[in-house]
Amino acid sequence: MKVLVTGGAGYIGSHVVRALKESGCSVTVYDNLVQGHAEAVSGCKLIQADIGDSVALSSVLKDHKPDLIMHFAAYIQVAESMVKPSEYYHNNVGKTLVLLGTMIKEGIRNIVFSSSAAVYGEPKKIPVDEGARCAPANVYGETKLMVENIMSAYEKAYGLNYVSLRYFNAAGAHPDGDIGKDHDPETQLIPLVLMTALGLRSCIHIFGSDYSTPDGTCIRDYVHVCDLASAHILTAQALMEGTGSHIYNLGSEQGYTVRQVIETSCRITGKKIPVMDAPRRPGDPAALVANSQKIKDELGWKPEFSDLESIISTAWKWHKHHPGGYRD
Ligand SMILES: NC(=O)c1ccc[n+]([C@@H]2O[C@H](COP(=O)([O-])OP(=O)(O)OC[C@H]3O[C@@H](n4cnc5c(N)ncnc54)[C@H](O)[C@@H]3O)[C@@H](O)[C@H]2O)c1
Repeated sequence: MKVLVTGGAGYIGSHVVRALKESGCSVTVYDNLVQGHAEAVSGCKLIQADIGDSVALSSVLKDHKPDLIMHFAAYIQVAESMVKPSEYYHNNVGKTLVLLGTMIKEGIRNIVFSSSAAVYGEPKKIPVDEGARCAPANVYGETKLMVENIMSAYEKAYGLNYVSLRYFNAAGAHPDGDIGKDHDPETQLIPLVLMTALGLRSCIHIFGSDYSTPDGTCIRDYVHVCDLASAHILTAQALMEGTGSHIYNLGSEQGYTVRQVIETSCRITGKKIPVMDAPRRPGDPAALVANSQKIKDELGWKPEFSDLESIISTAWKWHKHHPGGYRD
């Protein structure tokens, strides 16, 4: 199978690229490197270009003739999306329209899209399944839902086959320890906790300790990035077999509080991790936990690394050996 991976030099994309190569696929990475790292996909064909550049995209699609596109390229910071909505709508929606239009023009009909649990907003019921009402609480989640709606219309009008994968909190790193998360700025809990353990940050802020959860802090569902990668392989195979368009949640189905993540990190790293209580952040739901039964039933997805222990141990291995990210 020939696969073009937009945003493939980013955190999740690079782990999926590795899994695709290991499963024998021919992979081309297409990334403008605004956040991605060439080192994360060394040994792979990397085209440094923007998905909004229809000329570059057309020529790559003509040259490589992929059977399928995996589309990770996006801006991903929730808080930033609220202060720079124009950039988020432009990059995540406007440029995805260019990608979809170009692939259809070039006769490519299969796409796997990186969606997010952010499409649900504050869910009425936990765990949340794919049938739950979508009501994003931020611009980032809105951009993901808009792309899902666009793909649904393109399916009917142009015969697009799409699978939208709604990831919960992607975390962990490759067990080899040579690829992992290197975002600037870093905004996600586990890397921030581990950077604090390394002394690169003075303390970790807990945003809200008065939620109606067992210890008052928010509950999230962390899914290992290698389990996301295996789900992409299964999804690609299903799309190629012609099983049509689907939406799947990808989460571990386990919820952990912020304090549980910090305590587990203290134990695994053997370090003291100073914490500081801070006010709640607007739009943060108290709890977000996936029901991922649909992809398990339909595609046989079996997460192997998504227990908190494996997530934090693999992330710790990465951060300890690469405290400055790919620069180290
Ligand atoms: N990290 C998570 O927990 C999480 C959760 C839900 C959904 N997602 C989605 O998964 C995808 C990958 O996330 P990630 O954490 O790997 O982020 P990332 O920032 O590491 O990866 C995104 C990649 O896309 C590239 N990119 C961005 N805009 C581009 C453009 N216009 N043209 C070409 N390349 C472009 C960046 O350089 C980067 O390499 C994103 O779509 C994100 O919204 C991530």
